Amino acid sequence: MPKLIVVNRSGVETEVEVASGLTVMEAIRDNGFDELLALCGGCCSCATCHVHVDPAFADKLPAMSEDEDDLLDSSDHRDATSRLSCQLPFTDDLDGLKVTIAEED
Ligand code: FES
Repeated sequence: MPKLIVVNRSGVETEVEVASGLTVMEAIRDNGFDELLALCGGCCSCATCHVHVDPAFADKLPAMSEDEDDLLDSSDHRDATSRLSCQLPFTDDLDGLKVTIAEED
């Protein structure tokens, strides 16, 4: 199974295996990272699934929707690597992707 590397807010890296069909948010949540609240369950309406994505994978990510862009604007911690993890299907192409859980807003 492809692997995802999750960095928590303390900087600790954990590698998790991701079953096909999950989003990055689901993979993080299902592996017990309670720092990622994902309050809306993936409906792109809460921004509590904010992560910073390794720039090396930027080309492999789906384009950002207007809704995602607007929601990220509500975060004080947005930067060029910010994405909402519920909007990122974890495909085989993303094997080895590293994401860092964003600071709490
Ligand atoms: S889980 Fe709410 S926007 Fe991603």
